[in-house]
Order: sequence, then structure tokens, then C-alpha cells
Amino acid sequence: MTGNEIREKFLQYFERHGHTRVRSSPLLPADDPTLLFTNAGMNQFKDVFLGIEKRDYVRACSSQKCLRAGGKHNDLDEVGKTARHQTFFEMLGNFSFGDYFKEDAIKFAWDLLVNEYKLDPARMWFSVYEGDDEVGPDEDAEKFWEQVGAPRERILRFGRKDNFWQMGETGPCGPCSEIHYYMGADPNDAENCAANVNGPGDTITEIWNLVFMQFERNEVEPGRYTLTPLPAPSVDTGMGLERLTVVLQGVKSNYETDLLSNVVEFTARLSQGE
Ligand code: SER
Repeated sequence: MTGNEIREKFLQYFERHGHTRVRSSPLLPADDPTLLFTNAGMNQFKDVFLGIEKRDYVRACSSQKCLRAGGKHNDLDEVGKTARHQTFFEMLGNFSFGDYFKEDAIKFAWDLLVNEYKLDPARMWFSVYEGDDEVGPDEDAEKFWEQVGAPRERILRFGRKDNFWQMGETGPCGPCSEIHYYMGADPNDAENCAANVNGPGDTITEIWNLVFMQFERNEVEPGRYTLTPLPAPSVDTGMGLERLTVVLQGVKSNYETDLLSNVVEFTARLSQGE
């Protein structure tokens, strides 16, 4: 499958499930002084999550152009060191504005990856926010992963650094649950796999982040922040198109996918004076 087909399959899947396809917003945010560049698919929906803006749909999907070269989400220092980081990339996302929440977000993610893209579930690992079960059993992402078929031993818990997502110092935020994919030789080496989820290497890569938007983070005085519940629990997901393409094309790096290899080859030819 080409990268373009992978993007289209994602958007069509969510359209079939009641989502409105929305065009990527520009890399320069139109009206948000808190951001220099668009850093996530949810940026253009920020005011919808906050309840300030209403749209005529409650479910959306997009493939968003993103730049992470500064600010809270800065990948610049990783580029060239790993096979999975770029500064500019495309983020595939589905969004719920007060409509579905954790259970359906997890069902959609599993169904799309396993039944549509045919990823091997034995290579999938899941991370959940460590405090997720404190808000009540019905709110625990781990339970929903188990319901769709994820084995409990491949669901790992992490703290705020890895599993609580915020756009910047202020704005919508919430606990998140990620899907990581193992691309090494032995998926049964559970101990080794578990130790590498959220680790520095490329053998296990985070491919999709499901954020359960629940709060607005505000600075009430310099350096002091509060979390206020959003008008309604919402969903913001982001999957790296280039990373998913690495998995589906069986290559070793984002730069070897058909999305980027032509650019690399063209630049190499230019550098050789051709
Ligand atoms: N906003 C989340 C992220 O950027 C999920 O889309 O990871």
C-alpha cells in the first residue's frame, strides 16, 4: 500500500463511522498566540474542545501537517538520531467533540489497525495513564483495551510525562493511551519488548496516541496552573502517517517510505551536482 493509500484508508474509515473529513489547517496557526507552528491535529479544533466554538458536526477526521521544531513538542534534537523522527510530518486524527469517549476511541483504533490495515496484534503494545483507574472503573482505558482483545500483560502504565497530553502550557489536555508497534525479530520476547516501550530505540515505535480530552489548563498566576473540566469529555487522536507507513511497507525508517524516499533521493542527486 502506498503512503497516499494509507492516508486515504484512514480518512475513509472514519467517514464511514460518521466523521466529517476536515482539511489540514496551515502550518501557521490562524489565531492562536500560544503556538508558533501547528503541532497537532487538534490545534484547529481547540476552541471546539473548550466549548467556545460550535460546529455542525461532533465527529471529525483529518490528516494534519505538523511542525515540531520548538516549544512544548520539539523533535528537532531527535532528527538524524532515530529512524522515526522528523520535524515536519503528517498526523492522522479522529476527533470527538463531546460525543464518544474512551470506549469507542479504543474500539475504532483496534478495528482499524487489526481488521483494516491488518497489523499483527501480537506485535502491539499499549500504554495507559497510571491514574486512569482512579477516576472509576468505567473510565479505565485498560479495561477497554482488554475488551477489544489486548492481552493484559501488554498493557503498561506510565506517568504524566508519557501519558498525559497537553498542547502547550495552557489549553485542552487529558490522559492518553498509546499504541506501540514492535518491529524486531522476536515478538515473544515480552520482557525485552516491555522494557522498550517509550524507550529511545526504534525497534518499538509509538504509532498512535489517543488523548481523552478532559481538562483546560490555565495559568492563574505566573507558574501556577489549574485544571478545569471541559464542557464535555472529548477525544483527540494522532497517528504518525510516516510511522504507520514504515510498519505497513516493512521498511526501517520514515525516510525509506514512499512518502519521503523520493525527496531524499532527489536531494542526494542535487548534492552530487546532478
Ligand atoms: N494531540 C495528540 C498528539 O499530538 C494526539 O493527537 O499526540
